[in-house]
Amino acid sequence: MDIYDTSRMTTQTVTDYHRAKEVQAFDDTKAGVKGLVDAGIVNIPRIFIRPPEELVEELTSHQTNFQVPVIDLDGVRGNKLEEIVDQVRAAAETWGFFQVVNHGIPLNVLEEMIEGIRKFNEQDVELKKQFYTRDRTRNVRFNSNFDLHYSRTANWRDTLTISALASTDLDPNEYPEVCRDAVREYIKNVTKLAETLFELLSLALGLKAEHLQEIGCPKEYTLLCHYYPSCPQPDLTLGASGHSDPSFLTILLQDQIGGLQVFHDNQWVGVQPIVGGLVVNIGDFLQVVSNDKFKSVNHRVVAGHVGPRVSVACFFMGHNAEIPKSYGPIKELTSEENPPIYRDFLASECFNKGFSTAVDDNSLLHQLKL
Ligand code: OGA
Ligand code: NI
Repeated sequence: MDIYDTSRMTTQTVTDYHRAKEVQAFDDTKAGVKGLVDAGIVNIPRIFIRPPEELVEELTSHQTNFQVPVIDLDGVRGNKLEEIVDQVRAAAETWGFFQVVNHGIPLNVLEEMIEGIRKFNEQDVELKKQFYTRDRTRNVRFNSNFDLHYSRTANWRDTLTISALASTDLDPNEYPEVCRDAVREYIKNVTKLAETLFELLSLALGLKAEHLQEIGCPKEYTLLCHYYPSCPQPDLTLGASGHSDPSFLTILLQDQIGGLQVFHDNQWVGVQPIVGGLVVNIGDFLQVVSNDKFKSVNHRVVAGHVGPRVSVACFFMGHNAEIPKSYGPIKELTSEENPPIYRDFLASECFNKGFSTAVDDNSLLHQLKL
């Protein structure tokens, strides 16, 4: 990479060019990043190029041998429970991330979901365009970069969003036909796994197993089905800028390409894909209700020459739209010596905020600090 040229180009980015216009023109194609790749571009458009200071900083980062913890859920309903709870606690307190294996979701359900999302993105572009919208009241919507019009740098990815704000609300017939069965089956399984994970997290906090479930953590969820096309200049952009998730918990299904990185011990650590594994991470809301015991950690996705990469992030957001409920540090977890660090909040308020500021503006937790 020629640093000097890159810096010049992006300095110009900030001052001279009509970013808003270029962003709008890209949005108007309704074909997303995949549309650019299909058109055979060799140089990525300026709206995707990261600021020079970020690109320079990247050169000083180095490889690490760290590994996100892997937790085997086999025996969770039996004699392994205590051991598993200890592992979940350790991971949630330090990494904010772990992978699970033997979680009970059949491999074919995971593979068909990945395949369904790939097919959705690779179908006839005219069919796909029918789903292209920024109307957030739509339960099923497709677009590129939900924050396209206010982020500093666009990300190299397209996303199909499926929101279930109240589980009874969402009619599977609304899902795109090409991935309908896969999505339905995946949702059925992943919501069940979430209940198990919330039990483990409750126990790991020293609460009764049902606590997080009873306050509604697994209640509403949103699926972000991402498609990261191969990128001709991956060093200049990102698949997803660094961010933490505006959720209680996120369960992430990824294919075998790799690219997800977690910020740990002052460096970016790659999350190695595991066949049949799922990535789990603590979101901002769980950091708040646990009064900082569990950590919501920054993560990002690098772009790559090899692609497309497909991933599906399921955000569990608690009571949100239907029955707004206020959350704050759990009483049992605070005391005179350990007073609440955060104010109460509405999940809806924060989810909107998290998704209406740039993804790289990681300030949700700061805003909630007392
Ligand atoms: C997200 C996210 C990671 C990935 O959707 O919030 O972090 O690998 N996704 O797609
Ligand atoms: Ni995320």
